[in-house]
Amino acid sequence: MDFIRINQEKCTKCGICVDICPPRILQMEKKGPRATEIQACIACGHCVAICPNAAIDNVKTPLSGQIDLARLPVIDTETAYHYMRSRRSIRCYRSESIPRNQLLKLVDVARFAPTASNKQGISYIIVEDRKILKKATEAVIQWMEENQSNWWSFPIHIHAYREQGIDGIFHSAPNLIIATAPKDFKNGRENTILSFAYLELFANTLGIGSAWAGLFEMCAFSNYSPLLDLFKIPENKSLTGAVMVGFPKYSFKRLVDRNPLNVTWLSCDEK
Ligand SMILES: Cc1cc2nc3c(=O)[nH]c(=O)nc-3n(C[C@H](O)[C@H](O)[C@H](O)COP(=O)(O)O)c2cc1C
Repeated sequence: MDFIRINQEKCTKCGICVDICPPRILQMEKKGPRATEIQACIACGHCVAICPNAAIDNVKTPLSGQIDLARLPVIDTETAYHYMRSRRSIRCYRSESIPRNQLLKLVDVARFAPTASNKQGISYIIVEDRKILKKATEAVIQWMEENQSNWWSFPIHIHAYREQGIDGIFHSAPNLIIATAPKDFKNGRENTILSFAYLELFANTLGIGSAWAGLFEMCAFSNYSPLLDLFKIPENKSLTGAVMVGFPKYSFKRLVDRNPLNVTWLSCDEK
């Protein structure tokens, strides 16, 4: 089967597919676009998705699996701007676990974030059981106690936990989403960060709150085995990040501002 298939009746040889191909493996010939060096295709699907006449297909990203954008509503700029600003880190959760189908929706959207060379490579472990997170909190606190001279060993969290049972690591969230990547994968952390940015923004639409589990991550990145052993991370993979999720106990009433925008414009002085 041809790697790229062209419907000769539909192709107008407009050249858009050739223009937008990231590894530039398409060239325009008399019969239409032809692929060279097919091993360099990064399976981004742009060539198929952009064709105005649905004239090109690619075995790596078949036309049959693509969604027609013309059928979807467009979000206006004002709504999108305020929506993006409405995502907040949630630190007070209701106790019930998020249903599995909603947890799946979160990680499903996460895989659409951009990744270098479209390598993707992130897989997820979803902690459904709060009991595991309770053990994890204990492990992170223990790790902080063993490393009290380090800046991330926050006495306030240790005291709150030991004296009042307050979980400052996961804020008593019912669920945790852990990202992992193959040990030899160079872009694991950055791909994770972007995928979680998607996840967190999307979570709001489901009424789900989230926050980065930064203290948990630091403990995991230090290879603290009493913590890592709880999560059954496959031998060939490393933990690359974690976000806690749950239904928020309270809802925000206002959007807050950030530091003033800091922009430098650069243009050529020559007239
Ligand atoms: C890498 C990273 C680690 C973080 N770690 C924690 C954490 O351990 N606990 C927590 O409550 N929030 C954590 N946060 C959330 C930040 O504190 C939060 O994004 C910031 O205060 C801005 O607030 P907002 O997310 O509500 O806009 C983390 C955020 C990032 C990006």
